[in-house]
Amino acid sequence: MATINDNYLKLKAGYLFPEIARRVNTFVESNPDAKIIKLGIGDVTEPLPEACRTAMIKAVEDMGDRSSFKGYGPEQGYGWLREKIATQDFQARGCDIDASEIFVSDGAKCDSGNILDIFGKNNKIAVTDPVYPVYVDTNVMAGHTGENKDGEYEGLVYLPISADNNFLADIPTEKVDLIYLCFPNNPTGATATKEYLKAWVDYAKANDSIIFFDAAYEAFITDDSLPHSIYEIEGAKDCAIEFRSFSKNAGFTGTRCAFTVVPKQLTAKAADGSEVELWKLWNRRQSTKFNGVSYIVQRGAEAVYSEAGKAQIKALVDFYLENAKIICDKLTSAGFEVYGGINAPYIWLKTPHNLSSWDFFDKLLQTTNVVGTPGSGFGAAGEGYFRISAFNSRENVEEAMKRITEQFKA
Ligand code: MLT
Repeated sequence: MATINDNYLKLKAGYLFPEIARRVNTFVESNPDAKIIKLGIGDVTEPLPEACRTAMIKAVEDMGDRSSFKGYGPEQGYGWLREKIATQDFQARGCDIDASEIFVSDGAKCDSGNILDIFGKNNKIAVTDPVYPVYVDTNVMAGHTGENKDGEYEGLVYLPISADNNFLADIPTEKVDLIYLCFPNNPTGATATKEYLKAWVDYAKANDSIIFFDAAYEAFITDDSLPHSIYEIEGAKDCAIEFRSFSKNAGFTGTRCAFTVVPKQLTAKAADGSEVELWKLWNRRQSTKFNGVSYIVQRGAEAVYSEAGKAQIKALVDFYLENAKIICDKLTSAGFEVYGGINAPYIWLKTPHNLSSWDFFDKLLQTTNVVGTPGSGFGAAGEGYFRISAFNSRENVEEAMKRITEQFKA
């Protein structure tokens, strides 16, 4: 009989969001008339920007004409998209990133898991707690951890974040090889200053570590002093890989397009002690296991960088940020302790009356029919916290806040 990857047996039974969906479905089965409002998973609700749709329609037409038809595209993405990303997302911010260092893909989630393919088995890996669960689960799947004991996997270094440290992990005192950072943060909505990221870059360079920097939510930064990319920090090209996405700024969660930046000068050590360029390995990995994002979708992503696209994306992001403000204001006035939601689409709150995260989830679902995400689903230190997503229609956000403030009056 064939054997399995036993590491999968170490995983908690379900990935967080399917588990939430399961509980909601069970509730709806016995309460079919409940008007559920989902502020759980960070999935966009507003339509794709017109500039992207127009570009994709044109691209479909291209595919219908022999002279402009496209078969397999470059595995790394089309040059015209990579150029726009490099110039507008990076060079315009003073980051020396070349188009050849951009790898277009179908998702930041996929890439943040897939990147482990090019790293060894014995790296010491640090994650914050709470954290986006994909970073942890993909390391478990890859066999980089032991068993889960009391909510933590043996072998991982957990860096606790809470209101006490403004949800910014202390720089480790021990040496770690790989570090996952996400700013603006999922799930807490916290942001990082340049000084804070500089401390991480200095640590990484001093310890020969690599930072995996997830900037999927950078479009939500409203404070001009905050960095959008880790490459705004001097020295980051020597120690960081950055993940970006069109999901949350341009509403591509269902359309699928993202990119990963792997600087050419970034190296890590082979078993024989030699230093190997990570760009070459990632290029090899993508050329072998990935066939690129469709031409049609990449044309849609390219339109994000047009003048019309930029204006439409700003309007979309502003819309969700206004939702976040409404959520923060209403919950604060109802007496909740609330964090995030200013430079991020996530609001992180302390559960009332010391309820556990899942107890609050159930109570909220049953009494208000509103769905959020239990903080403990992001790690043991998320216990007693709860995440509300600002991705929904204005009507639903206002209705959800009305129900919650009525139910939990201060
Ligand atoms: C979330 O709710 O945390 C998001 O859906 C994350 C993601 O985009 O995968």
